[in-house]
Amino acid sequence: MYKIGIDIGGTKINIGLFDAEKKILLKNKKSYIKDITDLPVFIKNEIENICKEANASFSDIVSCGAGIPGTVSDDGKKILKVPNIEALTENFAAELENILLIPVRLVQDSRAAAWGEFLCGEGKGKNCLVCVTLGTGIGTGIVLNGEIFNGALGCAGELGHLPAEENGRACGCGKKGCLEKYCAGGGLDITAEEILGKGYKAADLFDAAAKGSEEAGIAINNAIRILGNGLVSIINLLSPDCLLFSGGLSVQEELYLNPLIEYIKNHCYTAAGRLPHIARAGLGENSPLYGAAFIPIKEKRKHFLSASIMCADILNMDKALSEIENSGIDYLHCDIMDNHFVPNLMLAPELLSKLRKGTSLPFDYHIMAENPETIIEKLDIKEGDFVSVHYESTIHLQRAVSMIKEKGAKAAVAINPATPVSVLDEILPQLDMVLIMSVNPGFAGQKIVPGIFDKITKLKKTLSDKALDNILIETDGNCSFENVPKMYNAGADMFVVGTSSVFKPDMSIKDGVEKLNKCLRK
Ligand code: DX5
Ligand code: ZN
Repeated sequence: MYKIGIDIGGTKINIGLFDAEKKILLKNKKSYIKDITDLPVFIKNEIENICKEANASFSDIVSCGAGIPGTVSDDGKKILKVPNIEALTENFAAELENILLIPVRLVQDSRAAAWGEFLCGEGKGKNCLVCVTLGTGIGTGIVLNGEIFNGALGCAGELGHLPAEENGRACGCGKKGCLEKYCAGGGLDITAEEILGKGYKAADLFDAAAKGSEEAGIAINNAIRILGNGLVSIINLLSPDCLLFSGGLSVQEELYLNPLIEYIKNHCYTAAGRLPHIARAGLGENSPLYGAAFIPIKEKRKHFLSASIMCADILNMDKALSEIENSGIDYLHCDIMDNHFVPNLMLAPELLSKLRKGTSLPFDYHIMAENPETIIEKLDIKEGDFVSVHYESTIHLQRAVSMIKEKGAKAAVAINPATPVSVLDEILPQLDMVLIMSVNPGFAGQKIVPGIFDKITKLKKTLSDKALDNILIETDGNCSFENVPKMYNAGADMFVVGTSSVFKPDMSIKDGVEKLNKCLRK
């Protein structure tokens, strides 16, 4: 499983390929013309090149996050405002999603940097992290109690647009005298031209100050004071435990960053001498890539229904299969039982491969048998199938999971009601799904066992903490009209539907599915 992180600037694009453990496998830095028309195609080609170079398969990429220098909607799907980059149209995320065929979420680049530092960098484990990107402009990302803080109106962190000079230099935000027009790269370029002459840049200003130019030194100190006051305001307002600096300008440590940090420490309000941890971002220019790649994808999750074929009308299986197929069911749940691991005997692999001929639905095999490896070998696997093996049924679980993947199916581990989620810690990154038994396996028509909803919540949190949100959670047993919404809200994505919902004597399968979907939309 891989994720893509992209950092889109005014003239360059960084693209990083990450694995499930958040390790950056490869990074590509490309300059591009900002008014490029087919930016999504350009990005897709770049990702394909990276996959080739990293010997990774494009189809194993599960999601893509892109940091942009602008304001995006909370769900990361729409660009609300971005200064002068024609290629970043309002529906850029949807266009890129159509080209890549994976979920794409956008995030403001400074927030991506903060999120990256919180997950993998200098801000790990901090409760209130402020990360200031000192680039052409100034962006500020805030991570509060483990979540990116956008503010109620989506504009949290706009430090760069604090008013610094009455009626001062015009800013891209439409106002005059903004802080970043005096303290960021772009603003210091203007100061360099004013002091050194046309064509000079911020780097020349630092050079001149290093060589003793008093005028350049005074201008830089003035910028430090303005920026320092802005940051002291943030510290006095938020009382962060961590303040980080990233972006091109943060490399000017001696003449800019260090005196700025000194200024902040001398001017901010403290109690018992406690100061925030103030440092340069640990991941350097890669911070936004990490943050974009692992941006939490918050949205109404899609749900999937997996019809338990052992509950269908065995005497009219043909009719049952076509009804199932035309009712919006996503998978055929095939229970394989050996009368040892569970006290029931059900659905041999050979019978199931004959059943395959009567439907085009993908199979969701559920192996409830000892020596599951011997069953896995016999399964007739097609693209898109899931195979669940019980944690309790083999001492070589990793080998069984590998066998499932080698056969081309998506791998899941099932756990009985009394088996804790924690047993899955080692195997999780290799899974596509976890199957939580909500009844003791073996029979249809049972009642849900207590504690299942909390168990789903606990697993969902584990997956989110490990940035493994792409792993599905399936529940199996008494997925009724009453239980499924609670299971879904607790974090489950797929439901094994049997006699509790879609195989009812007084209701067609289609009506059962419609009633379930309605319960889930509430
Ligand atoms: C349980 C079986 C499922 C399911 C049947 O071991 O794997 O087939 O529970 O659905 P219900 O519980 O709704 O009858
Ligand atoms: Zn099952």
